[in-house]
Amino acid sequence: MSDYRVYFNGELVERDQARLDMEDRACQFGDGVYEVIALWGGVPFKLEEHMQRLEMSGRALDIELPPADWFIEEAYSYLEELGCLADGDGEDFKLYVQASRGIADRSHAYPDEIEPEIIMKVSSFQPNPQEYYDEGVSAITYPDERWARCYAKSLQLLPNAMAKKASEKAGAYEAILVRDGFAMEGSLSNIFIVEKGRLITPPASNYILNGITRRTVIELAGRENIPLFQESIPLERLFSADEVFLSGTTTEIMPIVEIDDEIIGPGRPGELTLHMQKLYWGESRSS
Ligand code: PDD
Repeated sequence: MSDYRVYFNGELVERDQARLDMEDRACQFGDGVYEVIALWGGVPFKLEEHMQRLEMSGRALDIELPPADWFIEEAYSYLEELGCLADGDGEDFKLYVQASRGIADRSHAYPDEIEPEIIMKVSSFQPNPQEYYDEGVSAITYPDERWARCYAKSLQLLPNAMAKKASEKAGAYEAILVRDGFAMEGSLSNIFIVEKGRLITPPASNYILNGITRRTVIELAGRENIPLFQESIPLERLFSADEVFLSGTTTEIMPIVEIDDEIIGPGRPGELTLHMQKLYWGESRSS
């Protein structure tokens, strides 16, 4: 849905009128940060958490950004202007927010004084087919070729894009990134395994993005007294797990029933995965 007007440094402009400057550092260096936020029925889910992470990502990369509260206000007025907000009975949308370091003559070392370029774009949410959630999907493993600041949601996504494309070529849903023999996360999702009724997910570190959906799963497990451990997951444990699932804003809670042509557990979504999926849908659709 490219028909919605976009937010371009405080102005609302037609999509085809929004043009990034060729010297925007996002173009030459992927020098910027971003967020993707879902609006379920017209209600932004965890907007505050997303904007706080945007602020944190900026700090992590020495990009001077306005505070989270400013982004929240700007996002609300943009969404309001376009009529995307509702009380849960509206349409589902996806909001993309990008803040680049700004515009400067190409030079690796960025200038000290530079104004960020901020864009937002709302589009209709195209959900995954329901059968993916009911029956599970497959994944491949793929080398994690990223840098050591994966906790910041940076625009530099080529390793993620190549991993995701490799999974598409293999007819799989997602690529699970592997670093030094450990499953870290998906190309655009976090990973959980289930072992004997316990949920396990890699700890938040500089090698993964601490997903908002991941945090929601952890919170829901806490609320329901479901045992959850944040532990590194060696590949052997991934393949021998009873259940595996992914979490993410666009992924939601996605059961993985096959990895690299090996069947996980009984080859269908497990009980705890389906339970977390239900809890997550309840949580995300009720706020
Ligand atoms: N990606 N890990 C990576 C590398 C991601 O890019 C994402 C999100 C996640 C999940 O984070 P969250 O639960 O906050 O969405 C984990 C977004 C959706 C994207 O790039 O489109």
